[in-house]
Amino acid sequence: NTILLLNGPNLNLLGTREPEIYGHDTLADVEQLARDTAAAYGLEVRAVQSNHEGVLIDAIHEARTTAAGIIMNPGAFTHTSVALADAISGVRLPAIEVHISNVHKREAFRHHSYISPVASSIIIGAGVHGYKLAVQQLAHLLGK
Ligand code: DQA
Repeated sequence: NTILLLNGPNLNLLGTREPEIYGHDTLADVEQLARDTAAAYGLEVRAVQSNHEGVLIDAIHEARTTAAGIIMNPGAFTHTSVALADAISGVRLPAIEVHISNVHKREAFRHHSYISPVASSIIIGAGVHGYKLAVQQLAHLLGK
């Protein structure tokens, strides 16, 4: 039983990127947190980070046959990508949308998400702890 953990553009810079907004934990820390949390439910994590929209879309398509659900922080593609939203609805897997920062107290262009209408659950503004909450929520949706 596998969860696909997808992180979008610039999240490879976690830890050094605007730490006052995103904190000091690195992408490796986030992926480890997700793996540790998932293990308690007998779930495995396949972690993919890409700065390229098409790579994220391909990973979502692949999840159709290899994963039970998706956790994704699409980064700035959240606010721009109809194609990512279509990919999520296309694979019919439960998907949890995560944002480290509270996008609603930031610039107006971050207030709209193309992903939210196709997400099962949304976790916003909980810092990197949101990834742990996302794994717990996905495990709950999967009946674990
Ligand atoms: C983000 C919020 C987005 O607006 C931003 O473009 C990101 C990170 C977050 O996790 O808070 O790259 O998704």
